[in-house]
Amino acid sequence: MHYCKNDIENLDRITRLKIINSVTGIKPANLIGSIDGSGRTNVAIFSSVVHLGSNPPLLGFISRPRTEDVGHTYSNIIENEVYTINHIHPEFVKKAHYTSGKFDIAISEFKRCGLTEEYIKDFKAPFVKESNFKMGLRFREKIEIPINGTVMIIGEIEDLIIPKTAFTDDDIDLEASNAIGISGLNSYYSLTKLDRYPYVRIKDVPDF
Ligand SMILES: Cc1cc2nc3c(=O)[nH]c(=O)nc-3n(C[C@H](O)[C@H](O)[C@H](O)COP(=O)(O)O)c2cc1C
Repeated sequence: MHYCKNDIENLDRITRLKIINSVTGIKPANLIGSIDGSGRTNVAIFSSVVHLGSNPPLLGFISRPRTEDVGHTYSNIIENEVYTINHIHPEFVKKAHYTSGKFDIAISEFKRCGLTEEYIKDFKAPFVKESNFKMGLRFREKIEIPINGTVMIIGEIEDLIIPKTAFTDDDIDLEASNAIGISGLNSYYSLTKLDRYPYVRIKDVPDF
């Protein structure tokens, strides 16, 4: 199949959404936990989390245009500044998927989708207890993307919880930590580590 610009523009909304949402390849599978000013908790699935830099340790994610029903994660982060990013594992992937539902602000997806809130030290935002790899972040900056009304939310990692089993050699092994991947908006994949290669120095590149 070869879709040219015209073909892409003429796809019906759902087909285009499904295709374009998958073309980047595997995306990370995370639940973002947050809390509003009245103490109401929220958790939702996000596949757009991306590493922006290690010093300071920054992660970004894309928040879609807000509507009446969607955008609680965004407004909670703007209100309270703290939030958590929690890896999804196979044991609760279905529950995690259900957090994408347009639940009323008064309903916590933790309760409604069978996930457990966890509070670590004095960090105000809820972590997902079922997740073994999770981070507490503080909001640093937002970047509006006018072309489609999305916003990139940038946060700094303040707390980092990684299972001991995830450390192999000096690397983080996501197969060992039971991480999963996402394609599009409906498909979840398990991860198998293929190989590990050293930092590339030009002199070490073999002839192919
Ligand atoms: C697999 C999957 C990945 C998603 N990734 C994102 C994302 O990266 N950004 C986003 O804004 N919404 C994403 N969503 C949709 C949100 O989960 C959904 O809009 C949710 O209701 C937002 O919750 P909130 O209103 O409590 O923030 C995704 C949904 C699914 C099923």
